Amino acid sequence: MIISFEAATALMDGAARMLHIMGVVVWIGHNWSNVVHTPFYRPALPVDPSAAVRDVAIAASKREHGIFRHASLIVLATGLFMLWRRGDVIDALTLTGSSAVLGAGIWIAVLMLINLWGVLWPHQKKVLGFVPASNDERLACTRITFLSSRVNTVLSTAAIILMIAGAHAAF
Ligand code: HEM
Repeated sequence: MIISFEAATALMDGAARMLHIMGVVVWIGHNWSNVVHTPFYRPALPVDPSAAVRDVAIAASKREHGIFRHASLIVLATGLFMLWRRGDVIDALTLTGSSAVLGAGIWIAVLMLINLWGVLWPHQKKVLGFVPASNDERLACTRITFLSSRVNTVLSTAAIILMIAGAHAAF
């Protein structure tokens, strides 16, 4: 059986949509669970934990942070694929016509990605001890990671509303 290009990309579009939503759940879900876990800023203790506790904590954090950071890349890749398939890249990114709402959601998502990879991650590496840093430096970084994470919480609300509204022509 030969499958047409259009049918193949339609199938891939369905898979991309599933992956997009799953990536959103993992990435944004992690962010919101952090809000529930730590509603207010709590500086990390300026004392190093014992080596055994530290090793277990670092391994768990590496896994957790690795999964949600890479989920954000799946969201980006699948989102761009769906956008290309809709033939909407230019209209969405230039906020034109009926694609403007989706485009606004995409630009907010881009800000979230820049915030995650460009602000949160470099500081989080020091907080979690993935790269060496003095206790004072780690303490200062916890404030930045907290604020950066909360910025993405707020942006995620706007992004998800615009993304769904754009897809379903709610406005
Ligand atoms: C740069 C990254 C992103 C791009 C390029 C992108 C692009 C897209 C595209 C093209 C669609 C399909 C619209 C359609 O044809 O129906 C979509 C759907 C969706 N996106 Fe994104 N997206 C991105 C990030 C995000 C983020 C960060 C969130 C959540 C906060 C999100 C949540 C959703 C949801 C929930 C849908 C499904 C909408 C529906 O069918 O009701 N996306 N996205």
